[in-house]
Amino acid sequence: MDDLLQDDPLERVQACASRAALAELRSALLGRSGSLTSQLRSLGSLPTELRRSQGARLNALRSQIEAALDAREAELQVAEQEQRLSAEALDLTLPAPPLPRGGPHPISCVLDELRDIFQAMGYRIAEGPEVEDELHNFDALNIPAHHPARDLQDTFWLKDGRVLRTHTSPVQVRYMVAHEPPFKIVVPGKVYRYEATDATHEAMFHQLEGLLVADQVSMADLKGTLRELARGLFGPAAEVRFQPSYYPFVEPGADFAAWWENPKGPGKWLELGGAGMVHPQVFAAVDQLRVAQGKAPCYQGKMGFAFGLGPNRIAMLRYAIPDIRHFYANDPRVLAQFRGMGS
Ligand code: PHE
Repeated sequence: MDDLLQDDPLERVQACASRAALAELRSALLGRSGSLTSQLRSLGSLPTELRRSQGARLNALRSQIEAALDAREAELQVAEQEQRLSAEALDLTLPAPPLPRGGPHPISCVLDELRDIFQAMGYRIAEGPEVEDELHNFDALNIPAHHPARDLQDTFWLKDGRVLRTHTSPVQVRYMVAHEPPFKIVVPGKVYRYEATDATHEAMFHQLEGLLVADQVSMADLKGTLRELARGLFGPAAEVRFQPSYYPFVEPGADFAAWWENPKGPGKWLELGGAGMVHPQVFAAVDQLRVAQGKAPCYQGKMGFAFGLGPNRIAMLRYAIPDIRHFYANDPRVLAQFRGMGS
């Protein structure tokens, strides 16, 4: 026990590496049977002179040891706290792991562009349901029951007799039933056809429908509008070409193509869609539906043009996408190429 005191107790205190070791040392020195305590106790047996000097020495040593123990205790406490803090450190200033960055879908880019072009011409955007009834998808558009477009080949039929709309044209009917002319609208949306897929055919694709109804409307207005569209898409030199075509809900009907001036090679006519003057039968069907809803018929004697075009073809051309199936395959490698694009 005495060794402890001989051995420079202050140095021992300093050498303690933990608070537990320090507590042990404290009791070995100053505890009930600690070395200093027993030395103090043995003072009584010494002669007066010696007792006095030894007593003073031991008491001084005790205060030194106590002070050293307390100081070391405080040091270790700080060290332990620091160690715990650094072990549990959470650096809130570190940048968060990056989220994968998205980008607009190429079809969305083209639809945005088309919206801008038509909104600049004063068109409003309208929408309609993708699950349609036969009346809106076919009958009211002058597509009677025997028409080939109704075949099981082209149409997804639901068990309840409704269909996934095969074009955006039913929104023409819905809009006219709900609104009085004059107006001009475009209708972006998805459409569905029951067909085998290949590089240019998908069972689901996009369309943009256009409809203008007023008192006096001509085929020239239609052509001017579509030329404006072509110029918005392909630049001021673009032209449009009409070819006679048949759609039951327009008369006359046409397919239209835009001349695309390819900066890197030969230009070409790009088939964009179908168009024509709204068929009087469609106006009649709309008025009939209005009457059935207690609304005044207001389409008889009106004139209008309609068109429908496919943003997919524009996107394929513009972004050199060789296969329509890339648009809907959800392959992030395709979409990653369109990061940072769009408005
Ligand atoms: N709805 C037609 C189609 O999907 C396109 C079209 C729209 C044609 C409007 C004429 C007028 O093929």
